[in-house]
Amino acid sequence: MPPQFPAKKLMPSPDLNAQSLDAHLAGLPLGPVRFYDQIDSTNVEADRWLAAGAPDLALVVADEQTAGRGRLNRRWFTLPGASLAFSLVLRGGTLPAGSPEAGIDPGMLSMRLTALGALSVSLALEAGYGLSPEIKWPNDVLLQRRKTAGILVEGHWQGEQLEAAILGIGINIAPASVPPDEQIAFPSTCIEAVLGHPVTRLHLLQAVIENLLAWRKRLNEPLFITTWDRHLAFKQEWVTISQDGSPGGPASQTGILAGLDDLGRLRLRDHADQEFRIVSGELNLRPAGSGSAED
Ligand code: BTN
Repeated sequence: MPPQFPAKKLMPSPDLNAQSLDAHLAGLPLGPVRFYDQIDSTNVEADRWLAAGAPDLALVVADEQTAGRGRLNRRWFTLPGASLAFSLVLRGGTLPAGSPEAGIDPGMLSMRLTALGALSVSLALEAGYGLSPEIKWPNDVLLQRRKTAGILVEGHWQGEQLEAAILGIGINIAPASVPPDEQIAFPSTCIEAVLGHPVTRLHLLQAVIENLLAWRKRLNEPLFITTWDRHLAFKQEWVTISQDGSPGGPASQTGILAGLDDLGRLRLRDHADQEFRIVSGELNLRPAGSGSAED
């Protein structure tokens, strides 16, 4: 069945526009910024821009996405005035983890870039709003155990070398951004519902970008891994990990989530208390026994 959400069309919101973005992001060492009232997907637009020569740290922001993309070919809804949707271009040679001598393989680098997005959102929510976000590995930011942000990293590789990555972030801000529970398997929420008051999207966007800029230089540092580990959801709980988004599928693995190792791999303990590690890939994670096949 095609996605039904949203039920009605919302109007564009005047708080987010090219001028207000310029004013809020002016002091940051970003590349050029493009804003759209409506676009198919900021990741797709960033990709088009990349093909036309977008520099490192070029940023695409949209008030509304008509074909927003999630992981595993899922849709991501971005309604005008209710959400944040943006994509940052990261050129490969500028990333400390991007060099082969750093010993980071493509799968691990992709996971660290996903973590960079999730951690930057989490740290911004913690410091600016007093919230307690958790990261549902690999890419979801949860508030009160409900999804409030998702990260989609799409990389261009030349063999083992990353040429560029598009780091896309979608954040549910206002209640209108939250799909009804019956239309999604993993329940969602939004920041305003948790806080109980309105949030200025520009302030949050600025804070997330400040974190992205600061932490992207530190992907190889132990502090990056320990900060990521500190925010992991479901620690010491039984979880199921699948390769394709179906927790009951043949490739799914179940264990107690022990945390991350020093390379950022997920550590799990099986029924025999043996530890195994998950490196990367299109993995899904959820509390064991929660059943449904879609996010
Ligand atoms: C997920 O949770 O499955 C990832 C969702 C990522 C959504 C963001 S919104 C900005 C960027 N543009 C897209 O089309 N997707 C990402």
